[in-house]
Amino acid sequence: MLDMTSTPVIHPVLRNSAPLIEVRELDLWYGAKQALNAVDLDIYPNEVLAFIGPSGCGKSTALKCLNRMHDHTRDIRISGSIRMDHVDVYHPSIDPPLHRRRFGWVAQKPNPFPSTLYENVAYGARIHGLTQSRVDLDAHVETCLRRAGLWDEVKDDLHIRKGPDLSGGQQQRLCIARALATMPEVLLMDEPTGSVDPHATAIIEDLMIDLKADHSVVVITHSLMQARRVADRVAYFHLGRLLEIGPTEVMFTAPETPEARAFIAGKFG
Ligand SMILES: Nc1ncnc2c1ncn2[C@@H]1O[C@H](COP(=O)(O)OP(=O)(O)O)[C@@H](O)[C@H]1O
Ligand SMILES: [Mg+2]
Repeated sequence: MLDMTSTPVIHPVLRNSAPLIEVRELDLWYGAKQALNAVDLDIYPNEVLAFIGPSGCGKSTALKCLNRMHDHTRDIRISGSIRMDHVDVYHPSIDPPLHRRRFGWVAQKPNPFPSTLYENVAYGARIHGLTQSRVDLDAHVETCLRRAGLWDEVKDDLHIRKGPDLSGGQQQRLCIARALATMPEVLLMDEPTGSVDPHATAIIEDLMIDLKADHSVVVITHSLMQARRVADRVAYFHLGRLLEIGPTEVMFTAPETPEARAFIAGKFG
């Protein structure tokens, strides 16, 4: 890996909307090890933002700060600020479970509940009281499964088959339907296609683009091609720093930092 010498570059964004989330000077230590160093990042409504960069450079760590997934990690220290709708998400007045509900999380390895397909999706809506009746809940489950591109494959087995009975790619789409069921504003996806087949990958990529109609999507990907296909903007992480961020086309054709240029040219990974 190259030495860390460059100053971060933030390419301008042409947008009418204000950012939904503003991350400033974010530092994070796991014990004595610093994993994030002065990360500055805006996330806009209705965009797909891809995090790229070599392994171990802090992408997952940064993603987990947004929805406070680190709250129960021991020996961790976070400084700097993350504001969502102009409110500091680490302020004592914020209720962490309510904050977390604004996000859907999709992990690399599909992790469906051992319950039925229906229950996998209905659970989140039910515990948060998002539907009024069984009919509403049925309709909501159907909508979420349709959006995740899974409905046609499972509609006759909703109460018969269980999450883990599905193929890997179907399980991942089930997990996406489950993430959508709580009506999040932001979808956080940590290498969502890292362990699924090409068919499911294509569906999930299309879905990310669909989702930005009413969500922000932040996706970590090891595939530069995927970032290029789905992302409006790309953020390049390097040794715990967000070194360069900008519109996808700019990042792929005219990255300014030598590190991003070398990574995007495939010179290291
Ligand atoms: N829970 C943890 N405890 C200690 N160190 C961690 C923990 N999670 C990640 N790290 C370390 O922090 C750095 C960044 O990790 P991570 O955010 O997972 O990188 P990426 O997602 O870019 O591969 C790595 O050096 C990793 O080993
Ligand atoms: Mg990671």
